[in-house]
Amino acid sequence: MERTSRIEGFYKLSMSERLKIVKEFGDLTSEEAMAITGFGGLDPSIPDKMIENAVGSFALPLGIAVNFLINGKDYLVPMAIEEPSVVAAASNAAKMARDRGGFWTSSTDPVMIGQVQLTGVKDPSKVKHIILEKKKDLLELANKQDPMLVKLGGGARDVDVRIVHSQKGPMVIVHLLVDVRDAMGANAVNTMAEAIAPLIEKISGGKVYLRILSNLASHRLARARAVWPKESIGGDEVVDGVIEAYLFADADPYRCATHNKGIMNGIDAVIVATGNDTRAIESGAHSFAARSGQYKPLTIFEKTTEGDLVGTIEVPMAVGLVGGATKVHPTAKACIKLLGVKTASELGEVCAAVGLAQNFAALRALATVGIQQGHMRLHAKNIAASSGTPPELIEEVTRIMVAEKKIRMDRAQEITEELRKRNK
Ligand code: MEV
Repeated sequence: MERTSRIEGFYKLSMSERLKIVKEFGDLTSEEAMAITGFGGLDPSIPDKMIENAVGSFALPLGIAVNFLINGKDYLVPMAIEEPSVVAAASNAAKMARDRGGFWTSSTDPVMIGQVQLTGVKDPSKVKHIILEKKKDLLELANKQDPMLVKLGGGARDVDVRIVHSQKGPMVIVHLLVDVRDAMGANAVNTMAEAIAPLIEKISGGKVYLRILSNLASHRLARARAVWPKESIGGDEVVDGVIEAYLFADADPYRCATHNKGIMNGIDAVIVATGNDTRAIESGAHSFAARSGQYKPLTIFEKTTEGDLVGTIEVPMAVGLVGGATKVHPTAKACIKLLGVKTASELGEVCAAVGLAQNFAALRALATVGIQQGHMRLHAKNIAASSGTPPELIEEVTRIMVAEKKIRMDRAQEITEELRKRNK
């Protein structure tokens, strides 16, 4: 089989046919393919190892977004999400971007920030300088905590000192910048921040309270870019419509919250599927969006000189491939294998591309037919199923309700009766 993520009519296949393609694409073992289905649930011993007071596990639908071409490489993207239309919208946006080569991405080094809060300092500027003069010692002490990370090419890289004005007066906030390589980084950074705190107290004469990672991962960014040709997306008016939608979000925080939520629909779904920390990603994204003092969109849309639509995204991406759920959750492990990502940065870039695709799809729908049309088919299918339509008639009842634009329980029951009579 040609190894491409461009799969025509993937959505029309049965779940087992889709699984067969996914298994082959990701070179998954039968066990990994089973884990992808999640139908067996988690082995009862796993939840108990992951959290306290475990009583079971909670399943979510897992879909596969097709058509993603990123830096010339094909990806099938696993997305765990309860919301209809998200996987279809991402796949469709990725399909339209392929005409211009798909997505192009980059990222910074995987550098996370550990914060040490120093209080009770009368002369903060002097203390700032004293701490910076001891940078070498602080870095050495930090790196002693994690020789493995250092061996892998990571470790504490730099120290930054900020004076923050609190209600009680100035605080000296030390930032330890740590290259965490393929880890999410919280453990390594927190350990280092705790380790350097006594030395900071000693050289400053102040008192340290908090020693913890910052989720505003402004030094660990993933970026993606894609061009959607105007002829593939509905012409000049659609290009203009998407740009108007972006400008609305740029000008108005009320719209911007929803704009960014649409981006996170895509990103979070990949984050969950790969066993990463959705709360870290969410807080990073929104605090980064507000870093200028006004809450801003994470994406930008412009028109190219040829009149096509170009979208870009830049977003903090504290994701890991080692440690935590990524290593113990069998579905997350199989999803990472299916993605074929070799580094945490690569995973972050895939997430950024998916977020951009998701946002483009939402803005295109909103600026044209509206968002409800896309939801209609799945909604109709749910209505048909919950109105008592037998499984063999659900597709037909759904089709008729969508064509009639009458999506109601009573109509589903009427159509079911009509079809039953006809089929007798
Ligand atoms: C719904 O989950 C997401 C959207 O509201 C995003 C947007 O408005 O851009 C459709």
